[in-house]
Amino acid sequence: MILHDLVHDLAGDLVQDVAPDKKLFKKKSVSAIKVTAANKVPDLFGDIKQNLLQAPYSLPPKYFYDHRGSLLFDQICNTPEYYPTRTESKLLSRYCQHIIDSLKVHHIIELGSGTSRKTRHLFDACQMLDQYPQYWPFDVCEPMLIETAQKLMLQYDWLNIQPLEGDYSAGLAHLPKPDGHSLYVFLGSSIGNFSEAEAIDFLKEVRRHMTTGDTMLLGIDRLKDKKVLEAAYNDKQGITADFNLNVLSVLNNETDANFKLDQFSHQAIFNEDESQIEMYLRSLTDQTIHFSAIDEELNLREGEKILTEISRKYSLSGIDNLLGQAGLEVMDHFEPSNQYFSLVLAKCG
Ligand code: SAH
Ligand code: TRP
Repeated sequence: MILHDLVHDLAGDLVQDVAPDKKLFKKKSVSAIKVTAANKVPDLFGDIKQNLLQAPYSLPPKYFYDHRGSLLFDQICNTPEYYPTRTESKLLSRYCQHIIDSLKVHHIIELGSGTSRKTRHLFDACQMLDQYPQYWPFDVCEPMLIETAQKLMLQYDWLNIQPLEGDYSAGLAHLPKPDGHSLYVFLGSSIGNFSEAEAIDFLKEVRRHMTTGDTMLLGIDRLKDKKVLEAAYNDKQGITADFNLNVLSVLNNETDANFKLDQFSHQAIFNEDESQIEMYLRSLTDQTIHFSAIDEELNLREGEKILTEISRKYSLSGIDNLLGQAGLEVMDHFEPSNQYFSLVLAKCG
């Protein structure tokens, strides 16, 4: 089959573009199922009122991920300073075959899937081993879910994908439960973006959704030299800064606010007492921000900071404790020789 036919077959109808000399391939339609929140969680307006209008100022990290934010995050993953993606990717490429071979999974359910860039190692391993599970990526960012599903369908013609759109911090009770054995995947050390108590609750929530024979594959960033950690969240090209500042554009768009991005600076510091990177947006002047959509305002003095993200770093014993408290049993643990990152395979304890 020639390449065009192949693309045609996998991607759906060939359509004529407006430019007569160019042909466009209309991609096979794929749509996301909306997963409704199981627990009551505030919407953006509620989060602003609860967390952003009085000190200490903060915002939940999920608002980073509009389409631009998701694309910027993917660029962060390519920066030389951001070692977690490279390290986790190497671990996955090395151990995925072993993992898939030992599990025989029917569904891969990925929480916070983004561009699914590292999940491809799992699909490659499945293909090698003649196992063809379905893929259910779950994410808040609907455009990224669809874009990624379309790319994956072209790359893996056997892959049956059902994107799920929703907020994993709002409970998983309404996440569909498939038949057969499922592998729950949570990569990128996103678990570190929760406080320890929230992380335990979250893992318990995933565990509640799991049935006998299900497993979880978790990527967790480890404690290491402060310089390495801080460099990872302060890349020289300034992509992390753009990503952090982008949340202000999200607020401008969604709440008719008037944040001026050049009146803030990105700051990421490692708080050794808390074992966490803390990401802030620091006000460069005294300023008042208006949220027209909700008729509220925020007064910031020069130097005041909004906490936009934490990224917790775990020791080996911290990881054991985390999983143990969530009622999960470690089946396998993979780490590189520099012990920069952990990939943990677990089942219900
Ligand atoms: N797993 C990918 C992407 C990590 S970035 C990787 O390892 O590279 C975090 C991803 O989680 C983004 O795609 C973001 O949209 C998604 N996300 C963040 N908070 C979320 C939430 N509360 N519910 C669902 N998805 C969320
Ligand atoms: N889960 C990623 C991490 O903790 C998220 C992340 C990476 C991030 N770089 C960031 C979040 C910069 C905010 C800003 O490493």
